[in-house]
Amino acid sequence: MEIIIQPDAEAATAVASHIVSQLLRNKPNAVLGLATGRTTVGLYRVLAQMKLDWSGVTTFNLDEYVGLPPEHAQSYHTFMRENLFRHVNVSPENTHIPDGTSGNIVELCEQYETQIRAAGGIDLQILGIGTDGHIGFNEPTSSLASRTRLKTLTQQTHEDNACYFGGADKVPDHVITMGLGTIMEARQCLLLAFGAKKARAIASTVEGPITSINPASILQMHPKVTVCLDRAAAADLKRADYYRWAYANKPGWQKF
Ligand code: GLP
Repeated sequence: MEIIIQPDAEAATAVASHIVSQLLRNKPNAVLGLATGRTTVGLYRVLAQMKLDWSGVTTFNLDEYVGLPPEHAQSYHTFMRENLFRHVNVSPENTHIPDGTSGNIVELCEQYETQIRAAGGIDLQILGIGTDGHIGFNEPTSSLASRTRLKTLTQQTHEDNACYFGGADKVPDHVITMGLGTIMEARQCLLLAFGAKKARAIASTVEGPITSINPASILQMHPKVTVCLDRAAAADLKRADYYRWAYANKPGWQKF
C-alpha cells in the first residue's frame, strides 16, 4: 500500500485525480470502477474540469440500493449522472450500475460479474470507506472472497446515510454490491478517505489485522493500492511519519 497524507481533502483529491487522469490519458479505453458518496464528489468535479476524453472509457459502479429506481433522487444512478456522467463524454451504454429494481437479483449479480470480465476487468477501482470499514457495501463479516451479491446494511450505515433519506429508518435495508473478491481483481485500487470520522477505519485498514470485521483490510493483500487521505483521516495511523517521509522522498522512477 502507498499511503499519501495531504493537509486537506482538496490536496488529497488532487493527487487522486492525477492518478485517474494519467490512466485515461495512457489508456483511452480504460475500465474504471466507480464509487459514490461525499468523498468522491470533489474527485468527479476535478476530473470533469480536466476535459479528459471519456469516449472510450467503460465504467462499473460498486453498488446500488435495492428498491430504488434509477430516477430516484438518492439512487446511485442519480448520484453518478449528476456528479460525473452528465459532465463528461462517456457513452451511456458503457456505464454500468446494478439495477436495484431487478426482479432477479441473483441473475443480475452473475451478469454483472460476466460484464466486468467481458470488458477485460477493471483497470482502476476508486473506493471510499464506510465508518464501519465497508468498501462498496461490503459490510463487516462480508466474505473476503465475496462476489457481486445482495447485502443487508448495518445499523451504523443506516445512521451514516440517514441524512440523505430523512432518517435512518428510511434508508433501504438491502443493497447490491460488488464483492470483496470482485474488488480485489481490479488491477489497481485507489482508496480515498477524508475527515476524523474515517480515522479509525483507516487505521484498522492500513495497520490492523486482515479480518472480515473490517472488510477494507483485505486491501492489504492487493499488490497495487494507493490510499489518499487528509490529515484528519490519517490521525490514528501509528506510522504516519514513515508514510509522509516515503512519499516526500519517492524516487523519480517510482513516481506515477
Ligand atoms: C457509501 C458507499 C460507499 C462509500 C461509503 C462512504 O455508503 N456505498 O461506496 O465509499 O459509503 O461514503 P462517504 O464518502 O459519503 O463517506
